[in-house]
Amino acid sequence: MDQRTEQDILLEVKNLQTHFAMREGVVRAVDGVSLTVRNGQTVGVVGESGCGKSITARSILRIEPRPGKIVGGEILWRRAHQNGQPTVVDLAQLDKAGAEIRKIRGAEIAMIFQEPMASLSPVHTIGFQIMEGILLHQHVTRAEARAIAIDTLQLCGMPQPAQTIDRYPHQLSGGMRQRAMIAIALACRPNLLIADEPTTALDVTTQAQILSLMRRLQAELGMAILFITHDLGVIAKMTEYVVVMYLGKIVEAAPVKELFGAPKHPYTEALLRSIPQLGRTGGERLAVIPGNVPDPFSAPPGCPFHPRCHRFIPGVCDTGEPPEVTVAPGHTVRCVLYP
Ligand SMILES: Nc1ncnc2c1ncn2[C@@H]1O[C@H](COP(=O)(O)OP(=O)(O)O)[C@@H](O)[C@H]1O
Ligand SMILES: [Mg+2]
Repeated sequence: MDQRTEQDILLEVKNLQTHFAMREGVVRAVDGVSLTVRNGQTVGVVGESGCGKSITARSILRIEPRPGKIVGGEILWRRAHQNGQPTVVDLAQLDKAGAEIRKIRGAEIAMIFQEPMASLSPVHTIGFQIMEGILLHQHVTRAEARAIAIDTLQLCGMPQPAQTIDRYPHQLSGGMRQRAMIAIALACRPNLLIADEPTTALDVTTQAQILSLMRRLQAELGMAILFITHDLGVIAKMTEYVVVMYLGKIVEAAPVKELFGAPKHPYTEALLRSIPQLGRTGGERLAVIPGNVPDPFSAPPGCPFHPRCHRFIPGVCDTGEPPEVTVAPGHTVRCVLYP
């Protein structure tokens, strides 16, 4: 079924653990996450708020916030070389302020965030912010960088790019700011774009426009996207493969059609049941799942979802952690119901 080979693998996260040592205890924000992103592939990460999606994304770029620390696992990134063989680096081993990660961050892997105003500088023009990355990573003159910036704004559907380039973020609408943020991320044509809830803060119409822009950009540029969202509706529109996270762990992973057509984990089933009818958006749509995500200091033993699971088996689900089981090609689940 899957014709793709090892050479297609761009990013391979293996058993990643990012923990926060707090006075109250240890928060295992990311606790054994493994996922693979292939060239040009869109992989979705879905789960309720607080399950570790953003910390996974930030760990990959090595911008995990203090006191978060990668305490285990590997983040294998394949670097393309103009001449010769690609090399694989383990980003987890790099100094997060060192030269090596700074060559990769923004150039080979870029990220966009939920809130454009939080990642755009209010005191610099859009053009300055796009050119900053180009001048840092590419050997070009200012005039060339400006031309690339205008091209990139155009690519991102920014109206009148040659004028907008000299605007400040506050002079743009929410949708235009999101386009500017995407242009900054794409200025160096990264091989991987990490999009962390890029449309969650937008109204429905703008959200649809940004999603269709991202689909077009992916088709035109052929980049891979790691698409993070709490919204399974967005997952269905945007991704080929999905991993479902709960309390720092991946509980199920499958090709998108398979996940929607034949979900296995009771948590995935609950998430699917909580999708509101088509066309509605926003709000706390996941509240339908009974109970809350447990507080991060006291993760339950055994399967992390067992306190909320309607198929909970006492003495089984609350003891050992369920092993990963392959139920179909590319479809894995961690649940004792599937021996
Ligand atoms: N700066 C921080 N300090 C302490 N704990 C944090 C910090 N950032 C995130 N966490 C904890 O890590 C867990 C995962 O958070 P996050 O990755 O932001 O979740 P998501 O993106 O899925 O909503 C949460 O329990 C959160 O409380
Ligand atoms: Mg988040």
